[in-house]
Amino acid sequence: MDLELEGNAALVTASSSGLGLASATALAREGADVAICGRDEDRLENARDRLADEGPGDVLARQTDLTDPDAVAALVAATVEAFGGLDHLVTSAGGPPSTTFLETTERQWYEAYDLLVMSVVWTIENAHPHLLESDAGTIVCITSRSVREVVDGLLLSNAVRRAVIGLVKTIAREFAPEIRANAVLPGTIETPRIEELIEARTDRGEYADYEAGLAALSRDIPMDRIGEPRELGEMAAVLSSPRSSFVNGASIPVDGGLLRG
Ligand SMILES: NC(=O)c1ccc[n+]([C@@H]2O[C@H](COP(=O)([O-])OP(=O)(O)OC[C@H]3O[C@@H](n4cnc5c(N)ncnc54)[C@H](OP(=O)(O)O)[C@@H]3O)[C@@H](O)[C@H]2O)c1
Repeated sequence: MDLELEGNAALVTASSSGLGLASATALAREGADVAICGRDEDRLENARDRLADEGPGDVLARQTDLTDPDAVAALVAATVEAFGGLDHLVTSAGGPPSTTFLETTERQWYEAYDLLVMSVVWTIENAHPHLLESDAGTIVCITSRSVREVVDGLLLSNAVRRAVIGLVKTIAREFAPEIRANAVLPGTIETPRIEELIEARTDRGEYADYEAGLAALSRDIPMDRIGEPRELGEMAAVLSSPRSSFVNGASIPVDGGLLRG
């Protein structure tokens, strides 16, 4: 199926690794020009080199801390300048620390809010006029299955990410019909973040080895495995495509059937 993204301009945030990079890769493979960002310069350059080989479009990589509203504005402006407009926005971010309620500080609450919610708000605010000018404007927000079912030890993800779903549902009504907005809810996907988690637990003796860690994380997943980043990235590309032209305001799990509700 042709996703009709060739020649379109896309911005994917938090995209030098993991789910953001997988989404940028899927869009690049469909022929879109893709802008990516991250804080670490080496990781970003690596990602740009990988993406350049994925498709015929241009790649822009810009060092950006998504918790800085001025940097976010500059990222959107640089993307529009490089590509002559903006058709698709995919938002991701880093993950908040793993904490319980009693150990979470007020500062951590505000930091998680800036990282997970305000970064999305600032990106959409800056992107909106350009998406409006496109005849194919879309927004896809990568969140987590934690917006449907709390995950033990991930208080900040459980509590704060739900704001993004409220935001997506609201702009899906306010921005339609010119711009569609949807969310994807990853379950457990084997990104560098999850690889590090498995390695840390293996070092602590919780798993015998990496394979045992994979098996433990797969236990409750009906598909009997954790996901590949490609599987999330391709869903982001489909939701950016006119192939999903009547999908608006949806929150789509990519979790192998893990969520029960
Ligand atoms: N993988 C999963 O199974 C899973 C499941 C549910 C939810 N999630 C969520 O999905 C998001 C992405 O996870 P991932 O697994 O793809 O993680 P990852 O592999 O660690 O990638 C995170 C990306 O975000 C960038 N980033 C982090 N903080 C940033 C900031 N302040 N400004 C700009 N870029 C930033 C990182 O680059 P720099 O560090 O260089 O900035 C990197 O490119 C996270 O919020 C995570 O909690 C993941």
